[in-house]
Amino acid sequence: TGRKSSPLGSIQVILRNMEASLTARDRVGIQDFVLLDPHTSESAFLDNLRKRFHENLIYTYIGTLLVSVNPYKELDIYSKKQMDTYMGVNFFELPPHIYALADNVFRTMQSEFNNHFILISGESGAGKTEASKKILQFYAVSCPSTKLLNNVRDRLLLSNPVLEAFGNAKTLKNDNSSRFGKYMDIQFDHQGGAVGGHILSYLLEKSRVVHQNHGERNFHIFYQLVEGGEEDLLRWLGLERNCKNYRYLVQGDCAKVSSINDKSDWKTVRKALSVIEFSESDTEHLFGIIASVLHLGNIKFDVDARGYATLNNNQEMHWLLGIPNQVLQQGLTHRKIEAKTEEVFSPFSVDHAVYARDALAKAIYGRTFNWLVNKINESLANKDSSRKTVIGLLDIYGFEVFSVNSFEQFCINYCNEKLQQLFIELTLKSEQEEYEMEGIEWEPVPYFNNKIICDLVEEKFRGIISLLDEECLRPGEATDITFLEKMEEKIGGHPHFVTHKLGDQKTRKTLDRGDFRLLHYAGEVTYCVVGFLDKNNDLLYRNGKEVMRQSKNAIIKHCFPSTEPDSKRRPETVVTQFKSSLVGLTEILMSKEPWYVRCIKPNEAKQPGHFNDVLVRHQVKYLGLMEHLRVRRAGFAYRRKYEIFLQRYKPLCPDTWPNWKGTAAEGVQLLIKHLGYKPDEYKMGRTKIFIRHPRTLFATEDAFQVCKHKLATRIQAKYKGFRVKEDYLKQREAATKIENCWRGLMARKEREKRAWAVKVIKKFIKGFMTRNEPACIDNSEYLAYVRQNYLTRLKENLPKTVLQKDSWLTPPPIMQEVSDALVQQTAFIRKRLSCNIQTSSMFKGKKENYPFSVCRPFMDTRICKTTFTCHLCLLFLFFSDLCVRPPQYSVPVVKYDRNGFRPRLRQLIFTQQAAYLVEEAKIKQRIDYSSLRGVSVSNLSDNFLILHVTCRESGLYVLSLLEMYLVKTTNDPSSVWNDFIMCSVRFDIQPGREGFVDFKSGQESMVYRAKNGHLMVVSLPFKQHQLIFEGIVEQLTKFFVFYRNQQEPNRDEDASTLG
Ligand SMILES: Nc1ncnc2c1ncn2[C@@H]1O[C@H](COP(=O)(O)OP(=O)(O)O)[C@@H](O)[C@H]1O
Ligand SMILES: [Mg+2]
Repeated sequence: TGRKSSPLGSIQVILRNMEASLTARDRVGIQDFVLLDPHTSESAFLDNLRKRFHENLIYTYIGTLLVSVNPYKELDIYSKKQMDTYMGVNFFELPPHIYALADNVFRTMQSEFNNHFILISGESGAGKTEASKKILQFYAVSCPSTKLLNNVRDRLLLSNPVLEAFGNAKTLKNDNSSRFGKYMDIQFDHQGGAVGGHILSYLLEKSRVVHQNHGERNFHIFYQLVEGGEEDLLRWLGLERNCKNYRYLVQGDCAKVSSINDKSDWKTVRKALSVIEFSESDTEHLFGIIASVLHLGNIKFDVDARGYATLNNNQEMHWLLGIPNQVLQQGLTHRKIEAKTEEVFSPFSVDHAVYARDALAKAIYGRTFNWLVNKINESLANKDSSRKTVIGLLDIYGFEVFSVNSFEQFCINYCNEKLQQLFIELTLKSEQEEYEMEGIEWEPVPYFNNKIICDLVEEKFRGIISLLDEECLRPGEATDITFLEKMEEKIGGHPHFVTHKLGDQKTRKTLDRGDFRLLHYAGEVTYCVVGFLDKNNDLLYRNGKEVMRQSKNAIIKHCFPSTEPDSKRRPETVVTQFKSSLVGLTEILMSKEPWYVRCIKPNEAKQPGHFNDVLVRHQVKYLGLMEHLRVRRAGFAYRRKYEIFLQRYKPLCPDTWPNWKGTAAEGVQLLIKHLGYKPDEYKMGRTKIFIRHPRTLFATEDAFQVCKHKLATRIQAKYKGFRVKEDYLKQREAATKIENCWRGLMARKEREKRAWAVKVIKKFIKGFMTRNEPACIDNSEYLAYVRQNYLTRLKENLPKTVLQKDSWLTPPPIMQEVSDALVQQTAFIRKRLSCNIQTSSMFKGKKENYPFSVCRPFMDTRICKTTFTCHLCLLFLFFSDLCVRPPQYSVPVVKYDRNGFRPRLRQLIFTQQAAYLVEEAKIKQRIDYSSLRGVSVSNLSDNFLILHVTCRESGLYVLSLLEMYLVKTTNDPSSVWNDFIMCSVRFDIQPGREGFVDFKSGQESMVYRAKNGHLMVVSLPFKQHQLIFEGIVEQLTKFFVFYRNQQEPNRDEDASTLG
């Protein structure tokens, strides 16, 4: 059925879970007593507490107050995972826990930036100290951590085992009972980092050092040292590893307790000491003191003949703080009395000496404890002066009742009385004031205000403390009994005070003559007056102090400074000091926001799983939990600020969801109307809504749970849609932007192009209009264009063959000149080419040295200019026809005579009509072209040219170009060009007499007359003398070309210009 049914399915699951939690409500009770129904029933309250206790649910709320029942067993609810779970989660969303409270306090502090304190109360053994440790551990884990902060964190955490070692002891009520009051500030910076701390300690129970009741122990540290101390250390301190050897450790007769592991605690303390910055010498001195106290306890006194105490060389003396034996002896057995100007030492009786000894031991321990607290404070101090907020943790000794109660219990219980007063002030009273403030009608809740007891104890002049001090300070014989009588006299009628004398028959049975009884808020306590005066005086004989000042121990020196005011002015009594320190504490607490943890002890036997109804009921009663609950409810189970209520439940009403614009109160009004609250179910206060029955809230909450999931889906969908839309819009915007940019770019380009075109066209037109004017800026480009255009066209329309003469493009006027020049130039090139072609057709493949003449251009003449000019000048002078027809070509030659082949240097000059052989300025021969019948050359590499002429006397000219022979040729008019001669040319010297010119190749080029009378022309195989003869063939060609042109004079006029 898969996906379709899943929404329905999930709702069913939710409903089932809800049912489950509802049945769970039956089984495990409710998490918050405020929702208890009926809320006034003590049994219902107890039932709920019991139910939860048996399910190991030791925590329950009354609003924001946490009730904790000591489980007396380890529960798996303090893991790191649990801490994480509770971090930053709304108070009521998870099962009650001390972490939830700690987290809530922390976050409130963070958001409101103010100071808070957590008051942990409950009687001895109810779990206060444990609770305070849990809170500290939670902060250690949950607060931001850096290396520096971790340092502080470790010190905060480790100050605990040290203080517990020195200030806690096993009592009948608690194996780890705090014998001092402790208030600890944890300082946080604005980011929530724990940056420092400060501890205030209150009234240590010093009497425990010298005396313990049966079943109790001295402070842990003594046993830890003796049991756990290293061999060397014990030897150095003169101690033996046996507690039984020390009188101060055995009075309770229970040095060993199964629940306490002194050895491992010792290790913890040693380690902790090093973390909180105790130097080696500090610890040495500290343990030296502990050991000295033990030794002091073992000092025995003897009686001398007069009945005075003497010290008979007690070996313990040796170990006593390095005080000289003599001084110590004197100090322990005598008392210094100042009589006018004299100092007199009066000896002690043995009893007195023991008393003085114990007083000294208590003083040493008590002062050392204060030193320890100060030292820890130094290490916790935060030096940074920026503003901090603090969370204070008050873990003070709880209310306690023993079979015999003494001065200490009186002080402790008075302290608890004061704290109860504070609690009443801050909660019960303020709660009721809230109703008044909110304008809610309500019936005042009667609660027991213990102010009357506080007054009984502390009232000026009439209170017990005043009476006690009076007895202590008055001159004359004051004893504990006179104190008791004074009380009977002054406060005899007080309803909370009773003595044997004042009591009725029944009461008398339960009271000794030296007892008085106070009806504390937490119950009756019978105090035995014995020791009250002494303990209150806490007198240390003056020479006792002086003795201590002689000590070598640095801590003792510090604790007994020589500047201490002497006993001339009496110091304040113990109880007065305590009273004022409590006033100080109250002031500290009143300036902060309170939070409460109320600890309850389920049984007296420290047993897990035992829930003693009577005991718990009693505590519930005296802790005022019922009143607290009643006042909190005042007929209304639940109340919340409008804003918060609306914020949580606004999804349940379409008018308030998702946003309500009006005031929160109006929104809530609408909301509850929609939910169908009946008029008697709720009340609207000024800033809060008050809901009468828990079920109304449950129904609302359950509806919210269902609605929450639906909403979550809707919000998810909306959110996803929103995200997609946002993405889409972003993309679209981007696309438009890109498009715009692109279009802009293109348009700009187009515009530039057009502007350019306009400019060009304008210029073109202007140029066209001014094309015939002289060059100026207007037409320069146009003309350039015309030129370019013409040249380009010309390039593409050149005559197809070299020799093609027509089809030359008609030039524009400005190009006429250029065109003509080009035409001429081409004609010239063409002429050259045509010469080349002719030459090629005549000589290619026929004359050996032809290829080497190809690269040589045709020239007009081969004589250098000067000689030529010189020759010509002469010629002009003498030969008129040369003047008429200027020479076309001229070259020096050697002419060989027909007869005898003698060589003669001549200049061969071609004119239009004839060739001349000239010697200097004298024409030797004139060869009319019309008489030229043929020309012969050999196919070898020589440079001979034989001209055949029809001449009357000579038929051939043998001309060696450079050297030339003029030979008379036969009259053969058929062709000027004879074939190449292979080896020999025959000619007529005279009619009937013939001559020969022979050609051959040889090793040396030469011309000579052979024996057979022939002219022998030897030429080198052409490769060897190419350079010498390279010009020859070309000259020959010139000759022929020229000659041929003469034959057809009009064939090519241009040819005439060619030499
Ligand atoms: N949350 C707790 N979980 C387990 N044991 C506890 C818890 N709280 C107290 N205890 C037990 O009770 C004993 C006494 O608690 P403690 O805090 O010292 O009492 P108090 O300080 O109120 O006199 C502890 O030593 C411990 O054994
Ligand atoms: Mg404690």
